[in-house]
Amino acid sequence: MRVVLAYSGGLDTSAILALLREQGHEVVTVTVSVGQEEELEGVEEKARRLGAVEHYTIDATREFVEKYVSMAIKANGLYEDRYPLGTALARPLIAEKVAMVAKRVGADAVAHGCTAKGNDQVRFDTVLRYYLGDDFKIIAPVRELRLTREEAAKILARHGIDVGVHKKYSIDENIWTRSIEGGVLDDPMAEPPEDAFAWTVAPEKAPDEPLYLEVGFEKGVPVKVNGERMDLVKLVSMLNRLLGAHGYGRIDHIENRVVGLKSREVYEAPAALALIEAHRDLEKMVYTPRELRFKKLVDQLWTDLVYQGLWVEPLRLTLEKTIDAMNEWVTGEVKLKVYKGSLMVVGRESPYSSYRRDLIDYNQGWYPSDEEARGFITIWSLHSLAAAKARGLRG
Ligand code: ARG
Repeated sequence: MRVVLAYSGGLDTSAILALLREQGHEVVTVTVSVGQEEELEGVEEKARRLGAVEHYTIDATREFVEKYVSMAIKANGLYEDRYPLGTALARPLIAEKVAMVAKRVGADAVAHGCTAKGNDQVRFDTVLRYYLGDDFKIIAPVRELRLTREEAAKILARHGIDVGVHKKYSIDENIWTRSIEGGVLDDPMAEPPEDAFAWTVAPEKAPDEPLYLEVGFEKGVPVKVNGERMDLVKLVSMLNRLLGAHGYGRIDHIENRVVGLKSREVYEAPAALALIEAHRDLEKMVYTPRELRFKKLVDQLWTDLVYQGLWVEPLRLTLEKTIDAMNEWVTGEVKLKVYKGSLMVVGRESPYSSYRRDLIDYNQGWYPSDEEARGFITIWSLHSLAAAKARGLRG
């Protein structure tokens, strides 16, 4: 068979490549970059060495940022209030690219390295079925053989490649989020060791001076930092660096996976957390209270679909129309202060702000009369007081 393999160059997918070759398949490897920092250069050579007949390296970083990440900002995408969705957003794009290669080379099957216990298999398989059809063959050797990392290393050793199983964690990285799982982190009471982190310094080692930043948004998308206009790829990378150096951007939480398991997840996502915090703050400046509450519901529905591997669900597009429409007014500047791992929004302004300083001031301008205020309160509380009375809770 001609098999297209989603290939990261890591231990598992390298072992799968070797395994597929041993089984006599012709393997085409595809590596999709979504802004991960690790080297992509050696990957093709490694794939060829393990017997790939063809290799594709696809740099999808810009597409990832412009289509997926920008929507995640507009939707304040934080799964269970914490996780900025990095892996969840990237998987559908990677799967789409792999499916396109499969079509192009006339593949009989697609292979990937997902396990049976994770969310990624759901995200991959669903998108592959969407593009290639329900009956297209998907080979998932880790899931089928319950391949352990030790076994994967043994397979590679048969091919004279010593990668070792020295890695302490399972790491998935892209420009939006670095996801760290496994090893000692599986004990939910154990504090993540410093060696789990790569993008952020320990807050206690961060500089003694705070960092001030001003982020400019247009229609919900960040476009400027400290007045300097830049594209979103550059902006996100820059914020990751600047904020990470101040110890900001670490996440440690318990997460509900799609497959019925709770997992302890550690992430680094300085830019994601800061941009969502700033974006939310600006929304508060602009939206009516009804809009704000409605938007939260829409955001949560969108975030759950993305996390839960339902990128292809038609409702996503409907939600995105609403999200875009509501972001029409989310334009302005947000001032951030970052200090030893903490971040505070310390200022905001927008041409569409409905914050009215002339109205809020106690000492001047509009002031409701005592009568107006009493009338409002009487009518406003009528439902609650009447119901409480009917239930004998008050006189
Ligand atoms: N829990 C996150 C998610 O489901 C991150 C998964 C990270 N994957 C990994 N192989 N380390 O999106």
